[in-house]
Amino acid sequence: MSESTLAEIYGWTLERHILEQQRTVEGATGEFTKLFQQLALAGKIIASRVNQAGLVDVLGVTGETNVQGEQVQKLDEFANQALIRVLEAGGQVCLMASEEVEDPIPIPTKFPRGKYVLMFDPLDGSSNIDVNISIGTIFSVHQRVTDSDAEPALSDCLQPGYKQVAAGYIIYGSSTMFVYTTGQSVHGFTLDPTVGEFFLSHPNIQMPKRGKIYSVNEGNAAKWSDDVRAWVDDFKISDEDRGRPYSGRYIGTLVADFHRTLLKGGIFGYPADNKNPNGKLRLLYEGAPMAMIAKAAGGDASTGTQKILDITPTELHQRVPLYIGSADDVAEVERVLG
Ligand code: AHG
Ligand code: MN
Ligand code: MN
Repeated sequence: MSESTLAEIYGWTLERHILEQQRTVEGATGEFTKLFQQLALAGKIIASRVNQAGLVDVLGVTGETNVQGEQVQKLDEFANQALIRVLEAGGQVCLMASEEVEDPIPIPTKFPRGKYVLMFDPLDGSSNIDVNISIGTIFSVHQRVTDSDAEPALSDCLQPGYKQVAAGYIIYGSSTMFVYTTGQSVHGFTLDPTVGEFFLSHPNIQMPKRGKIYSVNEGNAAKWSDDVRAWVDDFKISDEDRGRPYSGRYIGTLVADFHRTLLKGGIFGYPADNKNPNGKLRLLYEGAPMAMIAKAAGGDASTGTQKILDITPTELHQRVPLYIGSADDVAEVERVLG
């Protein structure tokens, strides 16, 4: 990397970037900027612990089962606690919800409450923690819809994705990155661990209109509908005019599979199947935030029959079939499944 590029990167921390963006927002109070400072701090705390995996006692399971019926990993619990402790004390949120916690998480009365509602998947890709494969944190930000002098309620969480004011993820991979959108554009920041700051390394990320990679857990094929099987089989045929065959890539961490799809294009799918009529992924912590990012980068996200961002949730831990990626690739699966 040339010296001038380095200087450009080091000129823009995540904080400075958000401050600059907020300058043009009418009525901005600084609360949003502070919310992101807290998110970045939680991300750095989790990253530092992830990077010590194998050295300190963070690998393995706690022995508990979470609300999703899945085994809780020690890192799931650590990340969940780190996010709750940092964000509840920050003063910008009035309510939180986590993939790991059954009910909405209130803010203790000793802390001030802000206008934002934060929902997160504290540690995405739990099955990959022990084998040194990328994992992540996903977050979604809404404004509360209940009166500011009333108690925040479940209805503050059950808002459709198009109402998100921001969404993002932190990927703990070969480097740690913070990727976010407020709806217009998507920006990526890389953590320099020696400085302890995220620097703008990927400004204005655009997803290619069509890709050459499909990403799906084919171990589930026997449970899929014929339409889903036909959609996947179609990637493997030899047809130069239609850009076939596609390459197959599946990490099993949504954050990592999505991050690749965001940068390189293509499509990630977690279909419904005959055992799981709504697929596996969760609308509020996985589907909706990633859909907002995809859309802002020129991509799209769908259940196959409905846009993810249009779904009004009825339950906190609601699951949803998810097809997300390049706009043309998502349009194609909508044609097959629609
Ligand atoms: P989480 O670790 O937060 O429970 O999420 C796991 C999710 C997601 O990251 C990934 O895309 C998917 O589960 C993988 O599921 P399969 O192992 O069924 O393919
Ligand atoms: Mn997850
Ligand atoms: Mn998780």
